[in-house]
Amino acid sequence: MYLRTVGYYNIGGFLMKKILFVASEGVPFIKTGGLADVVGSLPKYIDKKYFDVRVFLPKYACMKQEMKDKLRYVTNFYMDFNWQNIYVGIFEAEVDGVHYYFIDNEFYWSGAKVYNDDPRYEIERYTYFCKAVLSALPVIDFRPDLIHCHDWQTGIIPVYLKERFAGSDFYRGIKSVITIHNLKFQGKWDVKTVQSITGLPDYYFTPDKLESYKDANLLKGGIVFADAITTVSDTYAEEIKTPFFGEGLDPLLRARSNSLRGIVNGIDYSDFDPATDPHIVKKYNAVNFRKEKVKNKHALQEELGLTVDDKKMMIGIVSRLTDQKGLDLIAYIMDELCQDDIQLVVLGTGEERYENMFRHFDWKYNNKVSANIYYSDALSHKIYAACDAFLMPSLFEPCGLSQLMALHYGTIPIVRQTGGLKDTVEPYNEYESTGTGFGFVNYNAHEMLATIRYAERIYYDRKREWNKMIDRAMAVDFSWEVSAKKYQEMYMWLCPDYDADKE
Ligand code: GLC
Repeated sequence: MYLRTVGYYNIGGFLMKKILFVASEGVPFIKTGGLADVVGSLPKYIDKKYFDVRVFLPKYACMKQEMKDKLRYVTNFYMDFNWQNIYVGIFEAEVDGVHYYFIDNEFYWSGAKVYNDDPRYEIERYTYFCKAVLSALPVIDFRPDLIHCHDWQTGIIPVYLKERFAGSDFYRGIKSVITIHNLKFQGKWDVKTVQSITGLPDYYFTPDKLESYKDANLLKGGIVFADAITTVSDTYAEEIKTPFFGEGLDPLLRARSNSLRGIVNGIDYSDFDPATDPHIVKKYNAVNFRKEKVKNKHALQEELGLTVDDKKMMIGIVSRLTDQKGLDLIAYIMDELCQDDIQLVVLGTGEERYENMFRHFDWKYNNKVSANIYYSDALSHKIYAACDAFLMPSLFEPCGLSQLMALHYGTIPIVRQTGGLKDTVEPYNEYESTGTGFGFVNYNAHEMLATIRYAERIYYDRKREWNKMIDRAMAVDFSWEVSAKKYQEMYMWLCPDYDADKE
């Protein structure tokens, strides 16, 4: 007990901790969504004096060539998996002081897209990935004190650590954390198939372990067996304990609530800074935005063929076009909204019905609506810089990163107050002159429209108030420093220098 106190609090006696991140995507190598931003930036902010942080990713063939060129071959071995003896290649790269490893296997990672539409195949591929990562650790001679898993794709790791890998000295005592970025995706398939793929004994497929509503569920396995569970905002950590947000796992999350906490995501301000952003026409900062920011609006109106008018309120949406993002609310009031004196710029891809919905309104209100149904990093930066407001009416939002970028660009978020949106955007209070954005509570299209119209009134009639709101928005700080400290405290708490298990 004495040693534990010394180890934990006394820096002099502190032993360097080894932390391994395992995830299905990470910037700058491969990205489909916010998960990649977090996996790419959090490790950079973990203090290298106290932690040796490394990251494992799959070696996808669809990675950009310039990133593939950075990878060096390390070694390979063969592993028993899914009734075969199968190849595992290991590659490595170093970026911004973080050591990355990649699991190579052409059979599993050669697709044109990161994710595959066949859930059974996804379960097979990511179970392979997780087993390969664990098996690779002695080969690369890296024994982590803690493995930090992300989302369902890595949910089997905490299970394997307590099961087949628990018998060996190398793995014994390795702690695990699972971070839920989105509870909607769980990695579910029938028990028989998952049992065959994972090779776990049948007593693991009971409702207190991997079984969930008669299926096997890999995320559930992670939540049951991890030493700690985190999610990406305080509010989402509370929400997922309720049936509406819990996606069927709320009873388990309530049961594990002592081990569950929210840590809000940060963003990497070095990539998103209007004062240095190479993608935007006119750079600006918290001092000169009143004169300079609008030049970006002017340029974007020209580029996208919208009416060129500095005074028009421009609203931006940069989003995956999926149900989660509240797009049915927008579809419902688009005709009404387009009667107002506004412009709407949309960027993103996703479900066909939403892509077509925005294309339709672009056709119908051509000089007011610009639908850009693709993804472009450069255009996203231009939208953050050019728009006056940024719309995010999500049905649920574990954290949300776009609103953080919008705030930093002085683009006022209009959000539904759920999950991370509630924790990061403070609704405007005209009586106290506080707030950094606009919020509405109920998932209701006209409540959203009324909120947008309230924002329009402030923008058009009380410009000084609007600009003061931009002052406050640009002053808030969601850089990683604060959140990275919270992760570090958790790692230290879970891995005290004195380990009672080893005595
Ligand atoms: C998921 C969530 C999003 C979160 C991101 C990173 O994409 O939908 O809210 O910001 O993961 O944690």
